[in-house]
Amino acid sequence: MITIGRVHELRAICDDARAQGKRVGFVPTMGYFHAGHRSLMHEARAQADFVVVSLFVNPLQFAPTEDLAGYPRDLAGDAVVCEEAGVDVLFVPAVEEMYPRPICTTVHVDGLTEGLCGKSRPTHFDGVTTVVAKLFSMVGPCQAFFGRKDAQQVAVVRRMAQDLDLPVEVVGCPLVREADGLAMSSRNSYLDPDERRAATVLSRALHEAAAAITAGERAPDAVHRVLAGLIATEPKVELDYAEVVDAGDLTPVTIIAGEVLVAVAARVGKARLIDNMTVSVNGANVEVDLGVVARESEG
Ligand code: PAJ
Repeated sequence: MITIGRVHELRAICDDARAQGKRVGFVPTMGYFHAGHRSLMHEARAQADFVVVSLFVNPLQFAPTEDLAGYPRDLAGDAVVCEEAGVDVLFVPAVEEMYPRPICTTVHVDGLTEGLCGKSRPTHFDGVTTVVAKLFSMVGPCQAFFGRKDAQQVAVVRRMAQDLDLPVEVVGCPLVREADGLAMSSRNSYLDPDERRAATVLSRALHEAAAAITAGERAPDAVHRVLAGLIATEPKVELDYAEVVDAGDLTPVTIIAGEVLVAVAARVGKARLIDNMTVSVNGANVEVDLGVVARESEG
């Protein structure tokens, strides 16, 4: 594996890989790797011939009030993870390399960015789509791998690629959980032991909501009450939203049918955490996708 920091070097090495007929797979990240990130690297390794990982804590997607300065970092540890996952190139640009001049051009995806996390983070997704568009242009991947932990991000990036005819397949990969159900996140490192225990209420609430839907509940309001009711039992957890939306366009549904996304966000101490599940409802037949639990060795 080689680690590089300059855009022109990244372009040259990716051009070279494509000239050799290799399929380039790309995993954009902000680092502080856990098993969720590793699963994306493994998927890229399995599907592509040449694997590029970017590690860049993108200032554009953080609001001034958010955790940019304190975002956890461990470049040495992250490089080992990439090496072990069989990554070919780790791209770690400086902020001045990604943004050498004040940026006048941004990418905005309408609609999909307005609900869910877009409500409390109104500038966040513009930051994400702008940096992802730049990274796609630098890497030129055939496929890019994103985790369904950030289900709204997958939908927004996929729509950007479709609308701008970017020649990249956006691949959504399973949400990876800790053994006790907590969705893995770099931000879990902000939690003290009590907050860490309390945070499991998010996945417990999703399990209860899944049970209610499986038992025949089809009213989004009732599912909201199940989620909000259980989350309210944990005083350390402050609910931001608990919603049932159409899995395709992320608009609120009036009845639970077809494929829906059940998504929650909450503040726990210093951390803002998100979690979700996808539920497919076909008459009485209900399929729930809560993701996968990381094997212990991967935690
Ligand atoms: P980051 O939070 O580092 O996440 C990088 C990728 O890992 C994203 O696709 C995210 O969905 C995925 N991921 C994180 N936790 C996961 C989990 N528990 N299970 C499965 N996948 C998980 O998302 C970003 O960075 C940034 O917004 C980025 C796309 C890099 C743009 O800056």
